[in-house]
Amino acid sequence: MSSVAIIGSQWGDEGKGKIVDWLSSRADVVVRFQGGHNAGHTLVIDGKEYKLNLLPSGIVRKGKLSIIGNGVVINPTALLKEIKTVRDKGVEVSPENLMVAENANLILPVHEALDEAMEIARGGKSLGTTKRGIGPCYEDKVARRGIRVCDLREPDLLLEKLEAMMRHHNILLKGLGLEEIDPKEVQSELLTLAPELLRYAGIVWRKLDEVKGQGRKILFEGAQGTMLDIDHGTYPFVTSSNTVAASASSGTGIGVNAVHYVLGITKAYTTRVGTGPFPTELKDETGEFLGQKGKEFGTVTGRKRRCGWFDAVLVRQAVKLSGMQGIALTKLDVLDGLDEIKICVGYELDGKKIDYYPASQTDQARVKPVYETMEGWKQSTFGARSWGALPAAAVKYVRHIEELIEAPVSMLSTSPERDDTILVRDPFLG
Ligand code: GDP
Ligand code: IMO
Ligand code: MG
Repeated sequence: MSSVAIIGSQWGDEGKGKIVDWLSSRADVVVRFQGGHNAGHTLVIDGKEYKLNLLPSGIVRKGKLSIIGNGVVINPTALLKEIKTVRDKGVEVSPENLMVAENANLILPVHEALDEAMEIARGGKSLGTTKRGIGPCYEDKVARRGIRVCDLREPDLLLEKLEAMMRHHNILLKGLGLEEIDPKEVQSELLTLAPELLRYAGIVWRKLDEVKGQGRKILFEGAQGTMLDIDHGTYPFVTSSNTVAASASSGTGIGVNAVHYVLGITKAYTTRVGTGPFPTELKDETGEFLGQKGKEFGTVTGRKRRCGWFDAVLVRQAVKLSGMQGIALTKLDVLDGLDEIKICVGYELDGKKIDYYPASQTDQARVKPVYETMEGWKQSTFGARSWGALPAAAVKYVRHIEELIEAPVSMLSTSPERDDTILVRDPFLG
């Protein structure tokens, strides 16, 4: 076993950053393969907090190679700013430990402007995006109008491409009452950033092939979560990339057979930030309790995250969609002190019981969760580092989740701190 993919199994913010950071001690390379700086991954090491958006969470460990794959959309200004922020915290970042795929697409100011304008145009039906230009950038990529990292090496081609892109977007910007963008100005801004960014540019697929050949361990760091996947999520209330494990291959240029273990990252309850259906959402004091205790505020936008009970139907679906061989269950400690805990074990739709989350937008909003109620626990699990330290009711809750989602718990997290983690079976050993 030499490589592991970390995939969010709910609506993002499951604690992927913490788990990637912990597992990166066992890996040689950490790779991001989709999404962009809409992601917010938090690591806490000896009380020091790092919030990473684009940089792989392995960056904080010395001697690890961090890679941003072709499937990621990169805002060059945001990337260079993030590099500076982590450097200011004492982390070394250089072309020695960071490589950016030369074939990755760039997020430009026009993408941010369009993301914001389209959200406003949707009015009461907005998607609740992070307004970071993610969607419009992926649209341009698929429309074959995008600008890639390697284009920064060719100023004339860059201008030609920007002119074509702006011919398209300026019509839209004008229609939305926004100022048109001069491609020459964008070219000049990009060329100012180019020398610094191009220091990191490289051929990621070849680097990964080399690393794989040397038998070194690769950790693929997913962003967002399965229910935000462009195909399998709660469309259209999703992000614009595939967040499932298959993306680790196409988003980096390594064969699908290179991923040996898919680890789902799963919160012990459910949260969602932004608009869209959420069957187990709690709009009462228990929801408020989870939000306050779990400090559920968006890492990127600061928005309050919606909170609800654990949805086993949804997570089981995520397990199947990515072939998750195990999960890391996080934030169990947030449930400490509850008298009883509910788990969604099925849905009811038009008087019928169903055991999957349907694709129809209307049905997704209509399903009624069917709950099982379990006994809570009063003892604290916060910071627990062994199974033995967990109260019996907490162990029962974890075991029942395993049964319902049809996957074992490989890791358990009991606080934001790196070392407050229980390893049940090492994902690198399968
Ligand atoms: P990500 O996007 O999946 O990396 O998750 P975020 O970093 O956006 O959100 C997870 C939040 O929960 C962060 O503030 C983490 O520090 C925190 N966290 C992670 N694991 C645990 C845990 O087991 N218990 C508690 N209480 N907090 C945790
Ligand atoms: P991490 O990696 C939670 C949500 C946004 C919005 C939808 C579309 O930290 O788990 P976008 O800007 O991507 O077009 O927004 O997706 N979203 C996330 N929610 N965690 C994330 O990332 C998210 N990235 C995007 O809130 O609902
Ligand atoms: Mg997050």
